[in-house]
Amino acid sequence: MRVDGRPYRTIWPAEDGRSVDIIDQTKLPHRFEIVRLQNLSEAAHAIREMLVRGAPLIGVTGAYGLVLALKDDPSDAGLDSARALLLATRPTAVNLAWALDSVAAELRPLNTSDRADAAFRIAARIADEDVSTCRAIGAHGARLIQDAYAANGRRRAVNVLTHCNAGWLATVDWGTALAPVYVAHDSGIPVHVWVDETRPRNQGASLTAWELLQHGVPHTVIADNVGGHLMQHGQVDLCLVGSDRTTATGDVCNKIGTYLKALAAHDNGVPFYACVPSTTIDWSLSDGVRDIPIEQRDGREVSEISGMGADGKVATVRLMPAGSPVANYAFDVTPARLVTGIVTERGIAGASRAGLAELFPEMRRSP
Ligand code: MRU
Repeated sequence: MRVDGRPYRTIWPAEDGRSVDIIDQTKLPHRFEIVRLQNLSEAAHAIREMLVRGAPLIGVTGAYGLVLALKDDPSDAGLDSARALLLATRPTAVNLAWALDSVAAELRPLNTSDRADAAFRIAARIADEDVSTCRAIGAHGARLIQDAYAANGRRRAVNVLTHCNAGWLATVDWGTALAPVYVAHDSGIPVHVWVDETRPRNQGASLTAWELLQHGVPHTVIADNVGGHLMQHGQVDLCLVGSDRTTATGDVCNKIGTYLKALAAHDNGVPFYACVPSTTIDWSLSDGVRDIPIEQRDGREVSEISGMGADGKVATVRLMPAGSPVANYAFDVTPARLVTGIVTERGIAGASRAGLAELFPEMRRSP
């Protein structure tokens, strides 16, 4: 996608041929800064502290993290310890484990002297595959927007509500939940996005709004509590969200607050779709509420907030009494019964074991 008219991905090999460049998402929307990752600990830091975030991008950064680690230590022990360090950075997004295991499985049979170069090629391939996967999700999901436009008699823009950031910043390019929006917008279908601010980290207000603005997509940022009211008044045609882990049965784990939006959508007959690359599906799980580990993050994400003051300086302020305890759950699980469908790179599946298995028969397992 474009930033000030110039095409970017969220992660790319650096010009020095030894490092990896990323966009530092902690600085957005106020500053656009590129950071160079030169070793394993910098890659782990970037994932843990959310310089990069979003399940697909976390996976690709993990793959490049192994590349950086193997430059220093290509042995089996080096590979194992780098994998363990990276895996521990963020527990909920399953793409990380998938990417690390994919790279490690291809490297293990190789001579240690060949591993660093091979890891680089594998990570680049995984990044390219992520782009084509997200582009395909965009093409399939855009049909939903097109159908909603036809259903309103082509009289007004289609209103999409999204939560968190599942745009190109959460992937290598295109995004998951926002890919259908970009495809529809680029093909001339009028679309407007309600952007949940997404407390506590405000990925909606700071990242989704920024990237929609960069691409020229009409949008409005709303407080997290507003969606139900809009749905009651017919102002949402479609909810599109991403996922950090989806079970083989169609339970969708995503940013905290997604479940409440799904409940409101269900109560108001608003279609609710999750846009999910197959690398986000954990085929080993059948009960998302019971089995998906929910990351709990630093309480300061709740008790404090950052923003730009009138003087142009970014500052952090406390929102609550210093002595009040806080809890900071980062994700929740929306049960499959509340999910209208799952948009994947192979098409739109029913949110069920049978629905997903129909599109991915090679992953079919007995219940
Ligand atoms: O904590 P984050 O910002 O890494 O979480 C990302 C999300 O939960 C997004 O909503 C997204 O849907 C998942 S990645 C496309």
